[in-house]
Amino acid sequence: MIYNLAFIGFGTVGQGLAEILLDSEEELYEDYGFKFKVVAISDTLKGSVYHPNGIDLRKTLEMVRDGHSLNDYPEAATTGWDSLKTITESNADIIIEVSWTDLKTGEPALTHVKTALQAGKHVVLTNKGPIALAVNELEQLARENRVELRYEGTVLSGTPAINLGRYNLAGSKITMFQGIVNGTTNYILTEMEKGLSYEEALKQAQELGYAEADPTGDVEGWDAVGKVVILANVLMDQQITKDDVEREGITKITREDLKSALEQGKRWKLIASAKVNEDGSVTASVKPEMIPLDHPLASVSGSTNALTFHTKYVGQVTIVGPGAGKLPTGFALLTDILDIHRILQASSKHA
Ligand code: HSE
Repeated sequence: MIYNLAFIGFGTVGQGLAEILLDSEEELYEDYGFKFKVVAISDTLKGSVYHPNGIDLRKTLEMVRDGHSLNDYPEAATTGWDSLKTITESNADIIIEVSWTDLKTGEPALTHVKTALQAGKHVVLTNKGPIALAVNELEQLARENRVELRYEGTVLSGTPAINLGRYNLAGSKITMFQGIVNGTTNYILTEMEKGLSYEEALKQAQELGYAEADPTGDVEGWDAVGKVVILANVLMDQQITKDDVEREGITKITREDLKSALEQGKRWKLIASAKVNEDGSVTASVKPEMIPLDHPLASVSGSTNALTFHTKYVGQVTIVGPGAGKLPTGFALLTDILDIHRILQASSKHA
């Protein structure tokens, strides 16, 4: 099968996937029978290019790196289409939604996803906004239009949190989860403990591509709240919103607090958790906690994340891995695309 891919947004994460696709093109075909053409890229700041027969992905990466607008892409391609026109008018069959995250409105990504699903196109995204705000509505829209929607990278980037819960732990009855689900804040706390100031550590997290375009969402805990909402609604069959999650960020934690915790054999971490109560309600929170140094989460440092699922039948299952970054998050999109490929292959075999 050959797929036409369109990128809506071409920032750090989109470029990460592009690099992986270029690096793995042959193996993807040999190992999985997966073939692709990138037919469109549309980015508000970097310009837009479309060619129904495919564009040169390597060239687009070079253009963006050199500061050229994709509107100047040379070879008889259509340029300048906005995101919605690219979604509806292009011949793409998988839309890769990697525009910026807005956890309050979900926009513009929410409209991108809805438009793509209504146009009968599969969608993969790492953007937490639309999934945290409207996952049930979007899943329904995907079913109605007989297309696939995948969002593995919305939680723990390329470390397989959602797919682990959805597939491998299906039927295990997840009753609770607890973990570190934001790379930026974990990086900042780790670096502040080593002596950097809050501002220096945040600047580094931004330079390394961990932080959101507006890092307030990270440091005030909103990003982690979005992930808690996604995990609870997708894996624990809940219908909670961000207002159901108690929230406190890391901005009040000082280097002195970190030092004094260490002197007591403890460490500050931004802990996210949700638990299903006996009456079916959920208690969920994102807040800094001082945990003992021998606690499994105490040694999870830098942008690494960790998540423990408490299940009825398997006990506790923990994953540890990257929680942010260009290639890990780009990889999450590849996982989703290959998952869609697997499903379509299986359904064509059964047709
Ligand atoms: N800003 C997010 C983080 C990116 O730092 O975890 C990955 O969701």
